[in-house]
Formats: sequence, structure tokens, C-alpha cells
Amino acid sequence: MSVIKMFSGENVPLEMHKVRMVQRVHLNPVEERLASMKEAGFNTFLLKNRDVFLDMLTDSGVNAMSENQYAAMMQADDSYAGSETYYRLHETLVDMFGVEHFLPAHQGRACENIIAETLVTPGSVVVMNYHFTTTKAHIQRNGGSILEIVSEAGKQITSDLPFKGDLDLDLLQEAIAEYGKDKIAFVRIEAGTNLIGGQPVSMANMRAVSKICRAAGIPLVFDASLLSDNLYFIKTREEEFKDVDLKDITLEMASLMDITYFSARKLGAARGGGILVSDDTIFLKMRELVPLYEGFLTYGGMSVREMEALRVGLQETLDLDIISQTPIFVEAMCNELISRGVPVVTPAGGLGCHVDAAAFCSHVPQEEYPAGALAAALYIASGVRGMERGTLSESRNADGSDTLAEMELVRLAFPKRVFTLSQVKYTADRLAWLYANRELIGGLKFVEEPSVLRFFFGRLAPNGDWPEQLMAKFREDFGDSL
Ligand code: F0G
Repeated sequence: MSVIKMFSGENVPLEMHKVRMVQRVHLNPVEERLASMKEAGFNTFLLKNRDVFLDMLTDSGVNAMSENQYAAMMQADDSYAGSETYYRLHETLVDMFGVEHFLPAHQGRACENIIAETLVTPGSVVVMNYHFTTTKAHIQRNGGSILEIVSEAGKQITSDLPFKGDLDLDLLQEAIAEYGKDKIAFVRIEAGTNLIGGQPVSMANMRAVSKICRAAGIPLVFDASLLSDNLYFIKTREEEFKDVDLKDITLEMASLMDITYFSARKLGAARGGGILVSDDTIFLKMRELVPLYEGFLTYGGMSVREMEALRVGLQETLDLDIISQTPIFVEAMCNELISRGVPVVTPAGGLGCHVDAAAFCSHVPQEEYPAGALAAALYIASGVRGMERGTLSESRNADGSDTLAEMELVRLAFPKRVFTLSQVKYTADRLAWLYANRELIGGLKFVEEPSVLRFFFGRLAPNGDWPEQLMAKFREDFGDSL
């Protein structure tokens, strides 16, 4: 394990890799950061990366790849149909998940599109621990709705429960009693539950959900995009698995599911996606959609080079030192923030450090997007780009009002192996400064609002001149420092 005890007694997350290629980044002065934020319509998605110091928007497609992944890319077999690369990737997937039928797709949401089009019918319900933005959008586009049954602890910001992403089994039984097999399109388990702070699901819960779904004849779908963090947590937090191989844990998980899909922009640290299907009939239905939306069955929209990188990245997911990197850095950052009084989601999950914007900006009403405002303020204060995960990431209700999110979070994602501990310390320091000056942060309002997935390219404006005041306070406190 790569958390090392120092002579001083301190536990330090130690990198189990060395850096052999680097990218120059720039930290612009606060005046320029404010100008960039204005130009980006107070939406961190619209910042130009050249103006960003540390890009903690997401890990999606921006994880550091290993030398073995790069080497594998050179051996790709370029062929529209029947590429050797496809067969190598297929072999790795069968070995890892124990499922024969595989459909490649260009990314995770493309898998969601195919799954929703195959299984969701108008008026049907998809029961899940928690939605992800693109998952929900595809289900709704096909006329379905979602029912979230994450454990009570999952909806609380702070807890010491190790598996906050678990599904509530009573609510699952109730949903089956209420809607029945015919109305429930499928049950979905999201590993490393993204929008509630990267919180894992236990194997015990997966086993129980699978048993209930099989008895009721309802397909069980597994979103394995965040599998690597979830594997780490099962191994380290679920007693029964502390001596079990990561490969055996993965095989058991997959055996409990009917369909497993993933974004390979996350899982496998490459770019792409895929669906593994046990049932022949469902597989054949889904297979028809791949050439329609993605590409031929042996590449599905992915470049063969990415498929080779994915193959190696998947194999590396079974190395505990490799998958530990993100969760131990997330925990280090959470601990640093907690020690400085900044509210964060606990226990530390995977994917990134999740700051509780509702508590941080308790004076900003949810309709004024406290998490969006905090993400904008953090960029102004630090050049660090985080992502709003709150009401801004929801859609409007039929009457035009905002759907108020259960959690208002700013996610500071840790792309795998990209940032150093001093960069983590810097980010925590600027957040602590911001927290001491939180009263200066005001709300936001939309000035351009797309109707679907509005958070991606909607533009906002501040309510009042709080960004200027924040900048002035920064200069006052930090003098000439960047
Ligand atoms: N499912 C989960 C749990 C995800 O986190 C994502 C993407 C997707 C599906 C969709 O995959 O992006 O390849 O189409 N999450 C990214 C993020 C965008 O930043 O958390 P995709």
C-alpha cells in the first residue's frame, strides 16, 4: 500500500510512479483570472485550458497514461473490420469480467444511449442508487423516468459509513412491489457513485441487489466507469475482501450483473467505452445500434490506438498500487481541508475531493447556484478549475422552476497520477482562504440557458460585483503573489 508512515509519524500518500513527461502550466495573475472567468460566462466548462493552472474539472479522458499504454498504442492494428486490436481488447475484457459479449462505443454516454434505447420504453422507470447527468438525460429522452434509492447516508454530506453508494434494499423491494417487473426497465448500480461524492458500493449490497433483481426477473445494469476507485474501497473497507485478488473481486461483481458498461475515459485511463452483455437476446438488439451510432462492431467509434491503451489500462486496474493513487490523494486533500475547517463530503470517496458548497456558501440560495458560484470563485482565487455538481447541473421542472439538487458540491477531480502533493496543498490553501472570505461570494444567474445538459455550455452572470470584491481582497491579502 502506498500510504507510508514517516519518521515524524505523519502518514503521507506516496506516488508509486515517477514522472517522465511533463506539460508546462501557467498561473495567471488574479486580474487575468477574473477576466477569463467573465469571458467564460462564469461557467468553468467554458474556460480555455491555457488560462487554467490546475485542471480539476474532471478525470475524464485526461488521466496520465503509463509507458506500457503508450507502447501498446504503437502496436495497434488499423483495420475497419476485424482488427487484431479488437480481438486483443476482447480477450482482456473476457479475462477481467468473465463476459463474452462485448460492444464497443465511443464513450460512456454512447453506451447509455444504446442501453436506454434498447430497454427503456415510454412510461417505464429505471431504479438506481443515483443518477449521473448523461444517464438521466438518455433515460428521459426515451420516455422513461428515474427513481433514486441510494442509502440514507448517501444523501448526507458527512458520515463515517464506508459504502454510502449502497442501494436501500427496502426501497428496492417497495419499487418492485409498486411498479412491477414490466414497468421497471432495469435496475442500475453506479460504482463509485459520482454525484454524491464518488461514494462506493459494497459487494454485499451488489450481491443483495442482484438476488432481488434475479428473483423479480429485472435486468441489472452496472455502470463501471468508476470501477477502479470502487475496487480499492472494497479491498480496503470491506473486511471479507482484504485478501482477495482485485481480479476475483471484479469477476464476482460482473457475475452479479446482466449488463456492465463503462466510460473508458475513466476506467482504463484511455478514451472510449463499452458494454458487456450476458443475455443473448439483449445483446443482439443492442448490437444493431452499434453500427448505426458508433461504427463497425470491431471499433465502435474508438481509435485502435485508444483501444490498445484501454486494453493495457484495464489490466493495470488490477494493480492495487496503481488504483490507490487517486483515493489516497483525495483523502489527503479532504483531511487537509477538514483540518482547516472547510466543509467536504466524508468519508473521502474516489474521483475527487468534493467541497460542500451548500455549507460553504450558506448565504447563497440554491436558485442562485452556490456550487457554481464557488467553482467560479475558486478559479478567481487560484486558477484551479473545478466542476459544479449541484442545481446548475440539473434541469428545470415543467413549470420553469429549478430542480433543486440534493447536494451542492464543487468537485475537484484528480485525474489519475496527474497532480503532485504540493499542487494539492496549494489548492487546499486557496480554498481555506476562500472559506475565510466566503461572505464575499455571491450568486449567479443564467444569461444563456440551453434546454438539455445546460451546465455544459450555459452562460451566467454574477449577482452584483462580488467577483471584483473578491479580487480586491485577494490582492490585499496576498500582495504581489500569484
Ligand atoms: N457514468 C458515470 C458514472 C460517469 O462518471 C460518466 C462520465 C459517464 C457515465 C459518461 O461517460 O463521459 O465517457 O460519456 N463522467 C465524466 C465526469 C464526464 O466528469 O465525471 P462519458
